[in-house]
Amino acid sequence: MFKIAVLVSGGGTNLQAVIDAIGDGSLPGVEIVKVISNKEGAYALKRADICGIDNCCISPKAYEDRAAYFDAMIEAIKGSGADLVVLAGFLVVLSAEFINAFRGRIINIHPSLIPSFCGDGYYGLKVHEAALRRGVKVTGATVHFVDEGTDTGPIIIQKAVYINNGDTPEVLQKRVMEQAEWKILPEAILAIAKGRVRMEDGRAIVIYE
Ligand code: GAR
Repeated sequence: MFKIAVLVSGGGTNLQAVIDAIGDGSLPGVEIVKVISNKEGAYALKRADICGIDNCCISPKAYEDRAAYFDAMIEAIKGSGADLVVLAGFLVVLSAEFINAFRGRIINIHPSLIPSFCGDGYYGLKVHEAALRRGVKVTGATVHFVDEGTDTGPIIIQKAVYINNGDTPEVLQKRVMEQAEWKILPEAILAIAKGRVRMEDGRAIVIYE
């Protein structure tokens, strides 16, 4: 089995998309071994509970500093035996130590077409507010490997989504999730699990079959 740990902060609809993809057979050979939230009471933990997936909250507030928090995260993920760490709406900026511990084995989903509307301060609804403010006609989502920068790592998959007249940030967020995020996150996990994509020398290497 290819084992994944999913890190979450909120509602967990991307986690649900991965759970559903495993359930309907579109992620063969993939298993979620751990779900970790930085926030107590995140609905994503409830989703894991419902499906009998091992889960916990590791809150930065419970540790004296960032180093101690990330030590605990590294230990929990290593203990789970995960082959891949999936950031699915995880809103804590990772430490260099954490990235080094799992280099090339961390992916993130971001709700825009990187390099637009990404980097520090661009997360969740703020991304869609910025896209609407700028007046772009097409946006989308990106799955990328994680490196030391914010949203700078090698891109694995992107999917475009049209913006409609009268879209609000909330309406756009829902469309980007439905049409892009919930599709490309399972796709990227499968591609990595099957060895079709890997990170090498800071680039995403795609092996076409
Ligand atoms: C998703 O839209 C995800 O792409 C975004 O947060 C949302 C989490 O929703 N992530 C970022 O903005 C990261 N920069 P979810 O908890 O329902 O999956």
